[in-house]
Amino acid sequence: KKTDDQVLVIFGGSGDLTKRKLIPAVFNLFKGGFLAECYAVVGVGRTAYSDEEYRQSVVFENEHLTDKNKVSQDDLNAFSKLIHYQSLDTKNKEAYATLKERLRALDEEKATCHNYIFYLSTPPSLYEVIAEGLAANGLNSQKNGWSRLIVEKPFGYDLESARHLNQHLRKFFEEDQIYRIDHYLGKETVQNMFVTRFANSIFEPLWNRNYIHRVEITAAESVGVEKRGGYYDSSGALRDMVQNHLFQLVALVAMEPPVKADAESIRNEKLKVFQSLRPYTTEDIAKNVIRGQYTASTIRGEKVPGYREEEGVDPNSKTETYAALKFYIDNWRWAGVPFYIRTGKRLPTRVTEVVIHFKPNHHHLFSANPHLANPQNTLVLRIQPNEGILLKFAMKIPGAGYNTEHVNMDFHYDDLSNVYVPDAYERLILDCMQGDATLYARGDSTEAAWEFIDPILKAWANDEVPIYGYPSGTWGPENADSLIEGDKMTWRYPCSNLTNDGN
Ligand code: BG6
Repeated sequence: KKTDDQVLVIFGGSGDLTKRKLIPAVFNLFKGGFLAECYAVVGVGRTAYSDEEYRQSVVFENEHLTDKNKVSQDDLNAFSKLIHYQSLDTKNKEAYATLKERLRALDEEKATCHNYIFYLSTPPSLYEVIAEGLAANGLNSQKNGWSRLIVEKPFGYDLESARHLNQHLRKFFEEDQIYRIDHYLGKETVQNMFVTRFANSIFEPLWNRNYIHRVEITAAESVGVEKRGGYYDSSGALRDMVQNHLFQLVALVAMEPPVKADAESIRNEKLKVFQSLRPYTTEDIAKNVIRGQYTASTIRGEKVPGYREEEGVDPNSKTETYAALKFYIDNWRWAGVPFYIRTGKRLPTRVTEVVIHFKPNHHHLFSANPHLANPQNTLVLRIQPNEGILLKFAMKIPGAGYNTEHVNMDFHYDDLSNVYVPDAYERLILDCMQGDATLYARGDSTEAAWEFIDPILKAWANDEVPIYGYPSGTWGPENADSLIEGDKMTWRYPCSNLTNDGN
C-alpha cells in the first residue's frame, strides 16, 4: 500500500528508545522502499542539537543502525538527509508555535503536505501538555492533511489515570487519530495467532470450553531490571507486562471471529474479551494472584544482585518482578476454562509462549496399562525466541501392545528461508503511516484491561497479599507452582528450544 507524503515528529528525540528502536525502524522502512517520496523525521527534545549533530548521534554514531555488514555509507548518507532536529521545551505551551513554524518550513522545502505523525516517546507526565501544545497551534487538524498521535506505554498507571489520560487526549485528538502502541502487537508471531485461529478449519471447531482444558501463557525474561530500576520500581510486572502485552495475547487467544479483518472489527472483539473477564474479589486475589520479587543468587557461576540491591530501586521495595494469575473469562466460549498467565524477570530463560491444553479423551482406551498414556494434546504457539508452532499428540510406540508416547509436530519460522521478519516497531510505524490502527490498542480496551487489574493493584498497595522472594534464575516463587498444582496440573517449563520443553 502506498504511504502518503509525511513528517514523523518524535518527542523524546534524543532518548534511548529513539536511538534503539525508532530510528532503526524508519531506516529499515527507508531501505525497504516504504517511505513516501517526500518524507522527513524531526527529532524534538530539550538538548540543543543542530541537524548535523543530531544526525551524527542518531544515524552515523548509532550502534543500533550501523551494523557494518549490512549498512553502506551511501545508505546512511541518503537516510541522514531525511533527519532533522528541533529543540523545544515541551513543558512550555508557548514553545509549540516554534515547532509549527519549523514544520511549515519543512513542508515547503520537502513538499510533505501537512501530514504529521507525532510520536510521544517521553515520560508519560508530558503526554498531556504535548497534546495540548500541538492542538493550540492547529497541529491536530485534519483539514489540509492528517495528524496522528502515537502514544508509548505506559498508558496510565491505573484505571483512574488511564481514564484521565484518554479524556484529556480526546479533548484535542479524535479516537481515530490516537495510536496507543503495544510492541507485542507488532510481533509477527503475535499477528500469526489471529491467522492460525481463523485461517484454518482444524483449530477453530475445537477452540472452546468443550475441548480446551486450560490456557497457559508465559512471558519469561532472564534479565533483571538492568538500568531501568527507577522506572521499574514505580511500575512492576503487572503494569509493565500484564495489563498490556499479556492481555493482548489473552485477547487474541480468546476473541470471537471478527466480522472483518479490519481495525474496528478486530478491536471490537478484543474489547468484549476484556469486558468478560470475571472480576476478582479480595479473596480471589489472595488465592489466585501471586507476586514475587527476585533475590540475589548465583547463575551459572555468576553472582547476580537481588532486586532490592539494583540501582534506582528502593532497598525496601515491594514492587513485584514476577506475577502469576489464574482467572476466568465469563462468556459462552470460555465458561469454566481457567487461564493461567505468568511473567517475570530473572527467570531461567527468555521465552514467551501461549499453550493450549486440550481436554483428555472421554474414554480411556489405553489406561489399563500404566505405560499407556492418556495424554492431553497441547498446542504451543511460541512467540519468541525460536519462533514456531508445536503440536503434541500421542502415537503408538512400534512393537507389541499399545504403548503410546507423545510426539511433536513442529513448524519453525527459521524454516521459511528468505523471509524477512520486520522488527515490531518497523511494522507498527508503517501501519500508522498508512492509517491502519489494527495493531494499536483502542482507548476503551485499555480502560477495560485496567478495570480488571485495578483491584489487584489496590490489594497489593494495601499489603493485603504477601510478596514472596524467589532466587534469581528460578521459575518464580513456589506459591506460583501451587497456584496451578492445587488444580492438579503443572506449568510447562519451557526451554529456549521450542520442542525441548522441560516437562
Ligand atoms: C517492555 C517492558 O514493554 O517489554 C520491559 O517495559 C520488557 O520490561 C519488554 O523487558 C519485553 O519485551 P520483549 O519484546 O523483549 O518481549
